[in-house]
Amino acid sequence: MAYRDIRDHLAALESKGKLKRIQKNVDHTWEVSCLARWMFQALPDEERFGMLFERVKGHDMPVMTGVLGASRATYAAALETEPDRINEKWVHALTNPVPTREVDNAPSQEVVHEGDAVDLGRLPIPIWTPGKDIAPYITTLVISRDDNTGIQNAATYRTMVKDKDQLVVNLTPGRHGMLCYDSYIQQGKPAPFAWVIGAEPAAHLAGVCNVPYGADELSVAGGLKGEPLEVVKAATSELRVPAHAEIIIEGEFLPEETADEGSFGEFAGYMGGVDRRPMARVKAVTHRKDPMYYGYISQLPPSESTVIQSLSNAGLLVKILRHDLGHHTVQDAYIDLTYGGLLAHGIVSMKPLYPGHAKRVGRLIAEATLLKRITVVDDDIDIRDPMHMDWAMNSRFNAARDTIIIDNVFTPAVADPTVRVRNGEPEMSSKLVLDATEKEDAGDVSLPHKDLMMKALDVWNEIGLPEFEIPKRLRLFMDRHQ
Ligand SMILES: Cc1cc2nc3c(=O)[nH]c(=O)nc-3n(C[C@H](O)[C@H](O)[C@H](O)COP(=O)(O)O)c2cc1C
Repeated sequence: MAYRDIRDHLAALESKGKLKRIQKNVDHTWEVSCLARWMFQALPDEERFGMLFERVKGHDMPVMTGVLGASRATYAAALETEPDRINEKWVHALTNPVPTREVDNAPSQEVVHEGDAVDLGRLPIPIWTPGKDIAPYITTLVISRDDNTGIQNAATYRTMVKDKDQLVVNLTPGRHGMLCYDSYIQQGKPAPFAWVIGAEPAAHLAGVCNVPYGADELSVAGGLKGEPLEVVKAATSELRVPAHAEIIIEGEFLPEETADEGSFGEFAGYMGGVDRRPMARVKAVTHRKDPMYYGYISQLPPSESTVIQSLSNAGLLVKILRHDLGHHTVQDAYIDLTYGGLLAHGIVSMKPLYPGHAKRVGRLIAEATLLKRITVVDDDIDIRDPMHMDWAMNSRFNAARDTIIIDNVFTPAVADPTVRVRNGEPEMSSKLVLDATEKEDAGDVSLPHKDLMMKALDVWNEIGLPEFEIPKRLRLFMDRHQ
């Protein structure tokens, strides 16, 4: 059976040695984020772990971070799969969504604080860039609803805690949460939102996948789980929220109510500025009897934010290219884990079927995503192996022939530090598409025949030389031209 809640995931992480419980009494206003920052900056992906701070000064609630996106391994565990099966899991979920199931009683509503009883100060909400962020920020799954269609949206929008019952949300034009907000506000109605903390991992990860507006991310979460995600009616609105979450904050935006938001450490690695954004009043906080707080750490990459966004959106890319656009020879996609999955480097492997096919796919990706650099390689390249990628670039890529620059691309200045708004006019960004596929058969590779290599491996083991796992790169080389 799929994980019922985030506690099932924590147990699985712990059994894999990928969860660290920290018993020291920590200060959530600086120690949580600084310790997590050390982990992301100092340890390579394969050595990172989810962090569970069990004792937090002034609070009786533990705080966790990195439990979904410390690394590819924690992310794969969150999806109940293996690291090399992540994309296929996404393709399956996106093509087989499972609608939510509503229940009457929910652990996420065991305790309900409404009206004057609401006090966000009771939650150990971390400061993510201590000494620089203006306030504590909630970084989690945000549920909203389109009042015209009744379809819900799930995403993550960083949310500043302004007061014990006031939140300011970084909702920007075009974002699906903003469309939901507008669907109420344009009719002069209050817009309900819910911040969901510590739901089952599938819900959180579906919330950072850029699915089209109108596709209900909680059904995609059901697709990831392979069974319906259970939801419950929110205590103060018509929203349906995950029944097995740790904590849910229910809020409402009123027309015209805005406030200054920022500054906050941006995912791209620089501090963001201050902008006017919608402000919400918190109507209720509901939670389990013994809740745990969870927040994604973002800011200077690599971070949990970059890992979960990159991995969730690589799966979406494969699905779009193969299923929606019919490029069925697209094999795999990878988005680098250092830059938010948005302005990052996307690599696609495929078997080109005709001259110009790889360039066409590269252009399509550039148009359809916020990726800044796209490289297309053949399906005999391990796109997660930097050495194999360099080999493909060195041996198959001819810069003058194989480069496309796409100019005049609008990217919000806040997301792309290379562009600025000057005299009220936003500068434009640009994109790079590199076609590193073989244009004509370059012949066999200069490696002994596979039979001899495998025989030599037996000899290697016989002599007692150090054991190793055969690199995927070498398997692919050996399988070429057999
Ligand atoms: C920690 C974190 C913070 C984020 N903050 C924002 C934000 O403030 N505004 C935003 O537009 N996207 C933000 N994102 C990215 C969106 O959540 C993501 O692109 C999502 O798919 C957007 O959903 P939508 O297409 O339904 O709007 C954030 C992601 C993470 C992981």
